[in-house]
Amino acid sequence: MKILANDGISQSGEETLKNAGFEVINTKVAQEQLASFIKEEKIDVLLVRSATTVRKDLIDSCPTLKIIGRAGVGMDNIDLKYAREKGLQVINTPAASSASVAELVFAHLFGGVRYLYDANRNMPLSGDSQFKALKKNYSGGTELRNKTLGIIGMGRIGKEVAKLALGIGMKVIASDSEEGEREITLSFYNDQVVKIPVKTEPVEELIKHSDFISLHVPAQKKPIIGKEEISQMKDGVGIINTSRGGVIDEPALLEALATGKVSFAGLDVFENEPTPALKVLMDQRISLSPHIGAATLEAQDRIGMELADQIIAILKKEKV
Ligand code: MLT
Repeated sequence: MKILANDGISQSGEETLKNAGFEVINTKVAQEQLASFIKEEKIDVLLVRSATTVRKDLIDSCPTLKIIGRAGVGMDNIDLKYAREKGLQVINTPAASSASVAELVFAHLFGGVRYLYDANRNMPLSGDSQFKALKKNYSGGTELRNKTLGIIGMGRIGKEVAKLALGIGMKVIASDSEEGEREITLSFYNDQVVKIPVKTEPVEELIKHSDFISLHVPAQKKPIIGKEEISQMKDGVGIINTSRGGVIDEPALLEALATGKVSFAGLDVFENEPTPALKVLMDQRISLSPHIGAATLEAQDRIGMELADQIIAILKKEKV
């Protein structure tokens, strides 16, 4: 059995697969050459992150493929329905990266309320005489404590974000397809467990009551946050998006940042990846990261292991 890890795999995942007797080709084949490579090498399993797309034409031209493994959560780069119709097993790693994405949300939030993203851009360019001016520019930040965080999408990642928020004394409201109250369990290092109820409300309500908003939803056909939604938000709201670029209408966001309606945004994902719009990249009120939510050593390690375990179980015909 041959496995192609086209966007890489953690060392632990690769070793687990090799120890189980599989051949792992850990190399990057360009999208245009991928079909012929898979055919020639008779690849059984294709592992991808978000950089490789697996569409109908690729699936049709690779009859040896049995499994497509998505090292991550979002499956928008894979024609999932078609692959399954063709009898392929498609697997992902839904739980492995939640903690890492949630921590990145807070990196953007903490940086946002204290203008760190902008200070980092400007301080190296300033001389002694400008230090005081910069100090003034970056004063007047706010605390997160006692503020309301609105979480859109209360799945695994949303819940991790809620835990961190509650842990630093924020109030959490959430919006999700499932209405009603949610209980969030906070576990501390000394085995103390605290359960806190979180109210779920429709997005239209959540956006009116949130000081900060964080999005945790799959790719959408049209943005969840556009001009109309932004107009309903509190003045000076901060918005963080680590889910998918298209869930926020970028031109509407840029306009709202320019007027001060939105005070800052933290973006890990963009409408146009891997070449986000220049206006987004150059906006001083946006804290940027290049789609690295899941890119910690720990998350990648868990992702590799979770994929390896599932592949071994499937190929050895065990129950997944
Ligand atoms: C995911 O869907 O798991 C994250 O966005 C990370 C990635 O795309 O690799």
